[in-house]
Amino acid sequence: MAIPPFIIIAIDGGAASGKSSSSKILADRFNLLHVDTGSFYRHITYELLRRGVSHTDLPNLKAALADLKFTTRLNGRSAQMLIGGEPASSEIRGQNVNDHVSHYAAIPEVRHTLLGYQRGQVDVAKQHGFRGLVMEGRDIGSVIFPAADFRFFLHADPAERAKRRAKEGGQDSIAERDRLDSSRKASPLTCPAGAIDIDSTFISLDQVVEKMAALIAPKLK
Ligand code: DC
Repeated sequence: MAIPPFIIIAIDGGAASGKSSSSKILADRFNLLHVDTGSFYRHITYELLRRGVSHTDLPNLKAALADLKFTTRLNGRSAQMLIGGEPASSEIRGQNVNDHVSHYAAIPEVRHTLLGYQRGQVDVAKQHGFRGLVMEGRDIGSVIFPAADFRFFLHADPAERAKRRAKEGGQDSIAERDRLDSSRKASPLTCPAGAIDIDSTFISLDQVVEKMAALIAPKLK
């Protein structure tokens, strides 16, 4: 019997566009490693803030980045990034990180630091026997895995997204983060040519997932 191929699924989109929920469901359904790259940017931001390194102080920022050691631990089907052996604290979802993460993520040196680590998640997935990986972020289909088997781009009306985030109990500057993430020079948030664009404003999470799953399932047979 032929061995099914290892597949890579990229899911990009703005803040609170449904990337995490849909990618976690796909990971469970198809036995994929789930990789939330936003959590990586958040963890780095938290660490740099903790060390008092400003995003405007490039020399210190570069020195601090060179000092960070990344490893991966699995949390269920999700890849958890450790910095210096430490997992991220729950504060990476707090207001302070929300307010700063887009500024750090706009810096090419920060993005470069994470590039190889993100691509290396393929090896992590293979070592742990997953059938593929589903990676969510802003530049996965455009920069990290432009040749991914499936590249989805999720968008939804900003008011609807703000409602969803509020329901989760979070306070987030969604519109401001999207503005910064889309307008930066380095790997901006954009729907790359050839990606499958899904507008989730008027459809449920289940419907989004079913659209994706209908395309993915035949590839895994
Ligand atoms: O997915 P999230 O909202 O948790 O991501 C937090 C921030 O990280 C987001 O505002 C921009 C940045 N980010 C990025 O620049 N590139 C990625 N691939 C993922 C996240």
